[in-house]
Amino acid sequence: MRPSLQSSVNFEFARLEWRALPSGALFLPAEDLLVVSDLHLGKSYSFASRGQLLPPSEVDLSLDLLVSEVRSSQAARLVCLGDSFHDSASIEGISSSHFDTLESLSDEIEWTWVTGNHDEEILKFSEQLPFKDRVVGSLPCGEVLLEHQPPSDIPPDEDPLFRVFGHFHPKMRIMLSGNMKTTGKCFLASEKRLCMPAFGAFAGGLNIENPALSAAVGQTKMTILCRPPNIYRVDPDRIVRN
Ligand SMILES: [Fe+2]
Repeated sequence: MRPSLQSSVNFEFARLEWRALPSGALFLPAEDLLVVSDLHLGKSYSFASRGQLLPPSEVDLSLDLLVSEVRSSQAARLVCLGDSFHDSASIEGISSSHFDTLESLSDEIEWTWVTGNHDEEILKFSEQLPFKDRVVGSLPCGEVLLEHQPPSDIPPDEDPLFRVFGHFHPKMRIMLSGNMKTTGKCFLASEKRLCMPAFGAFAGGLNIENPALSAAVGQTKMTILCRPPNIYRVDPDRIVRN
């Protein structure tokens, strides 16, 4: 049977009700909180500086989608879970109108920037960013820690904390009816850990079968595939294994 079309998937994690959206954003109604991860803004400029080409519309696409999700969710708070900017070359390429968009969105919502491995230095030290006072290494939210990536020295099933993180940009391939297959970015969760997909356009992805991703998440209990404008909860037997 083909997975049913949905515009959001509600699920429970850490005794909280979450809503996964086709864009790869998460909404937590109890906290009026919207979470996105891995925008990688300016990745196209960074690649161009090394002679590799990505569509330069990447920043517009990511920011337009972010503005749209903030407005449609009507969330009071926004958290970016790290790797919001790709690198220092990406910052140089981002236009003043993009910074204006970031600044005006900052006026609409309580916005916290969690640092990731790509942007820790950028977020702390770039003079171009107007929101340095809203930068943190991680953010507790009830029993959940929102962070860029989980510690590698704590096995997921022995972790005393629930964690929501990005970093790995998970994607998966699933079997539809009639031998058709489709691929997309995805959420995956175990009992204690929930990994979000990359929100940014052209941010790339890592197959959920990659050992680094399985080690970070642990025993997977839920997979959700994003195929905008739809999103599906996926049965494990539909996942195409390599
Ligand atoms: Fe990333």
